[in-house]
Amino acid sequence: MNKNIVCIGAGYIGGPTMAVIAKMNPDRKVMVVDINADRIAAWNSPDFELPIYEPGLEEVVREVRGRNLFFSTDIDSAILECDIVFVGVNTPTKMFGRGAGRASDLQYWEATARNIKAISKSDKIVVEKSTLPVRTAAAMSSILNCPAMPGEASDGPRFTVLSNPEFLAEGTAINDLLKPDRVLIGGPQTPEGEAAVAEIASVYAGKDGCWVPRERILTTNVWSAELTKLAANAMLAQRVSSINAIAGLCEATGADVDEVARVMGADHRIGAKFLKAGPGFGGSCFKKDVLNLVYLCETFGLHTAAEYWYGVVKMNDHQQERIVTRLFKEMFNTLANKKIAVFGFAFKADTGDTRETPAGRVVRLLNEEHVRISITDPKALSNAKRDLADICREGLAAPAPLFVDDPYEAARDADAVLLMTDWKLYPNLDWARIFASMRKPALVFDTRNCLDDEKLRTIGFKVLNVGK
Ligand code: NAD
Ligand code: UGA
Repeated sequence: MNKNIVCIGAGYIGGPTMAVIAKMNPDRKVMVVDINADRIAAWNSPDFELPIYEPGLEEVVREVRGRNLFFSTDIDSAILECDIVFVGVNTPTKMFGRGAGRASDLQYWEATARNIKAISKSDKIVVEKSTLPVRTAAAMSSILNCPAMPGEASDGPRFTVLSNPEFLAEGTAINDLLKPDRVLIGGPQTPEGEAAVAEIASVYAGKDGCWVPRERILTTNVWSAELTKLAANAMLAQRVSSINAIAGLCEATGADVDEVARVMGADHRIGAKFLKAGPGFGGSCFKKDVLNLVYLCETFGLHTAAEYWYGVVKMNDHQQERIVTRLFKEMFNTLANKKIAVFGFAFKADTGDTRETPAGRVVRLLNEEHVRISITDPKALSNAKRDLADICREGLAAPAPLFVDDPYEAARDADAVLLMTDWKLYPNLDWARIFASMRKPALVFDTRNCLDDEKLRTIGFKVLNVGK
């Protein structure tokens, strides 16, 4: 009989992943539960106003919701009903006590594990879907399989803890889930562990093998799986910081970072992906996961390795400071009361997610300079308003940022347009119309190098790029 699945955590990872698992396993019941009732209500909204924006997600949810995918706040009933429990709760950077600013805050994870143990009446496979520090599975297994009294054998249900990290990227999540480069399942090398890994592999194989080909389902021990996820994100983040470090040098020397990246990336050993210079990486995971790796290295006394990885985050922060420094210089060393229109607030195109977005940091730095800021974004304005609520209060010395749907309106009377997110709509705007409505000299700072510079210069703009 097919085992039922529950996922605890209905966020960016739980929602899309379970929707695709349900699509590819129509003969399994899949439940997604969360303590956040508003989020669950949005997943259940009659007109499919889902809590996150992700291309292709709505279609999948329309297909499976109510068929074999169910969203609920009744966590305990779902745990009781299921044999496989995915845990996709958040694991933010800890902001207090030991490891503050670096280590993962595991309190949500541990609370979840304790709840699973308290509720369960039958054996379960517990799957780490969240990104976790190495050896978390051992801690979880200790909590889950702990006997009521020391020295007693636990006669309650048995729990096998696996690591199944997720590699999807936002904006392409549905495609990444439907056609993953690989699925990684780490499990204990025991008979129960191997059986559990085989069970989860069968979920990813899909009904009648319709989904992930067997050779793309990679299995390892649990510690390798946990570390691989951190290492993969750290390598990707490192590439972004490396190309951004080269971008600074390009600006100083007259080289063009896009040309350098194109030719470097043509070497198949280097590859073309993740070599796009820009405002630095954002998103909820790169910074958190690199910092977590730094903390792990420090914990194990690997201080030079810790410093190396910390450099990736430092370089990223520096990239955003550089953007403001360059604006400052270009705008005659005073920004106070000038108007800058920020085009794009999401951390990348095709998502409404603004967690750790480079635009957030740049807007705050500009706000410190008392810039009049107008922010526009096709999907992220409500998150932007929430993120910046503290600098939008009345009575502050700096002007509160404005949030404007229409980019033409955002740019009206502005001294500069600062493009922060590479939404496809921006290159196609009527830039002559924008120029006509701006104060002169009119500047465009394209931090994503996605606009047609020559065309902009012909219109009359002064143009800044990253790495050129
Ligand atoms: P998120 O904040 O969007 O979602 C997490 C959800 O867990 C929230 O809705 C929260 O209410 C819920 N939650 C927290 N504690 C709970 C509890 N005790 N019981 C029930 N629900 C609870 O976070 P996310 O972006 O989905 O990330 C989750 C994890 O997945 C993180 O570890 C992250 O590193 C990892 N991850 C995320 C992505 C991504 O693209 N966002 C990709 C790969 C891995
Ligand atoms: C990233 C990883 O790509 C996923 O594999 C991983 O599952 C996920 O983190 C996670 O663990 O959460 P994501 O953050 O959604 O995915 O998006 P990316 O496409 O990796 O972009 C991250 C940031 O780097 C964005 O701000 C993007 O604009 C920036 N970036 C990316 C660049 O500046 N240059 C590039 O060449 C690539």
